[in-house]
Amino acid sequence: MARRRIIAGNWKMNMTPSEAVALCGTLKDLVKNDAVDVVYCVPAIDIVPVVEAVKGSNVHVGAENFYIEDKGAFTGEISAPMLKDAGVEYIIIGHSERRDIFGENDVLINSKVKKAFASGLKPILCCGESLALRKAGTYKEWITRQITWDLDGITADQVKELVIAYEPIWAIGTGETASADQAEEVCGLIRELIAKLYDQATADAVRIQYGGSMNAGNAAELLSKPNIDGGLIGGASLKPDFGKIVNA
Ligand code: 13P
Repeated sequence: MARRRIIAGNWKMNMTPSEAVALCGTLKDLVKNDAVDVVYCVPAIDIVPVVEAVKGSNVHVGAENFYIEDKGAFTGEISAPMLKDAGVEYIIIGHSERRDIFGENDVLINSKVKKAFASGLKPILCCGESLALRKAGTYKEWITRQITWDLDGITADQVKELVIAYEPIWAIGTGETASADQAEEVCGLIRELIAKLYDQATADAVRIQYGGSMNAGNAAELLSKPNIDGGLIGGASLKPDFGKIVNA
């Protein structure tokens, strides 16, 4: 089954609003590709100017974080209705930086996946193991547990619209990329798990990205693998190189 490729930038905590608009201008012609879903996941303060800057182009806008309530006394948080109203389509959930630095656990992450679907946002659900788990050889069990918990109560129809990003923590921002075979092994495992938890049609439909030091030099090989449908890109999404990844 042909799945549509999805190349998403995760800008993390980079780009002031004016820098964000300038970057959109730099990338505008470089990221043109009608066969690929191109997404910029940007800091909350950049959402409004970025939505405006990419209007009329093939670029979709995503957010990096949100909270599960619609409104109220949650100082510092941003809600799904706020994101929707601003023109956001995708939402990153469960990134290892949110899990490790901000203490988000699988219960909260599962609630966020539910809330995103209920609000009409498309989740990009992240999973991935630490270097210690990779070395211990227990990474498959870890990924299985993360995905099983994070998708608790999520329907097959919803999973068909889901994007899962496999991001080994040891490859994030380190310059050390998982080899294409290592990435394919886990992305294939995730697809098998979805077939077990749901059914084959759902497993065939879910899109799975690799993330972790993906760049213009290694993207084509990673994306050539049958179970890798796209990339979630940090550092290289802030540079003209992002266009080369979109067109790899
Ligand atoms: P890098 O591409 O900078 O390694 O970051 C990957 C990532 O965490 C994307 O979410």
